[in-house]
Amino acid sequence: MKIGIIGAGFVGRAVGRLAIKAGHKVMLSNSRDPKTLFSLRPMIGCEVGSASDAAVFGDIIVIAVPLSAIGQLPFASLRGKQVIDAVNYYPERDGQVETLDSQQTTTSELMASCLPEAKITKAFNAIPMTQLESDGLPLGSPSRRALPVAGDDSEGKKIVSMLYDAFGFDTVDAGGLAEGWRFERGTPAYCVHMPKDLLAVTLSHTQCRPGK
Ligand SMILES: NC(=O)c1ccc[n+]([C@@H]2O[C@H](COP(=O)([O-])OP(=O)(O)OC[C@H]3O[C@@H](n4cnc5c(N)ncnc54)[C@H](OP(=O)(O)O)[C@@H]3O)[C@@H](O)[C@H]2O)c1
Repeated sequence: MKIGIIGAGFVGRAVGRLAIKAGHKVMLSNSRDPKTLFSLRPMIGCEVGSASDAAVFGDIIVIAVPLSAIGQLPFASLRGKQVIDAVNYYPERDGQVETLDSQQTTTSELMASCLPEAKITKAFNAIPMTQLESDGLPLGSPSRRALPVAGDDSEGKKIVSMLYDAFGFDTVDAGGLAEGWRFERGTPAYCVHMPKDLLAVTLSHTQCRPGK
């Protein structure tokens, strides 16, 4: 598969490296000139380009930017695309977002409102990238870590599950995109190592927040 990644920081590089190891083709991009990513091509084995180039390149697109940057995504090139949203909300970095603070919406629903014609699936946000690169185990390993996914598009969830498995993780489906709050920052499932059964129970028992 061809995977375009918008954002070439910790998430973009980790997902890019693992995807290339798993046999996919990857293009990384950032907000500056692709020349600033020059050294990544030999280090990771990826292509580099602008955010719009990455959106056009990918069969699927991973969004790995700060929440404050989602208003600057290349909307036209993302139309109709399978988009994997790895974005989290950190007010100290992103500024206060009233609808998130009041828990009226979720980060992925915000992204979906910016990209109404893309198919958004929330994934890869609930694990530190150092652990994404270190914790993967073969299918069937007793202590294999599970990662959550949320989305309204079954194909998008299948793609995420295939990538999780290739990177060494089981998948737990948390439900539709509106259920993404179950593994946002501050929830019991956020960035905690759990096997599949425990993660499923934890997600389903996570307290419904006011406003939801
Ligand atoms: N770090 C983790 O372990 C981790 C884990 C899960 C989820 N997350 C979430 O994933 C997102 C990315 O985290 P990160 O740690 O990878 O951040 P990071 O290291 O700060 O990297 C952010 C990347 O986004 C790019 N970017 C910013 N604005 C952009 C725009 N408008 N268009 C294209 N690219 C843009 C930056 O490029 P420039 O430098 O050129 O601006 C940079 O390459 C955040 O929402 C974070 O909360 C992080």
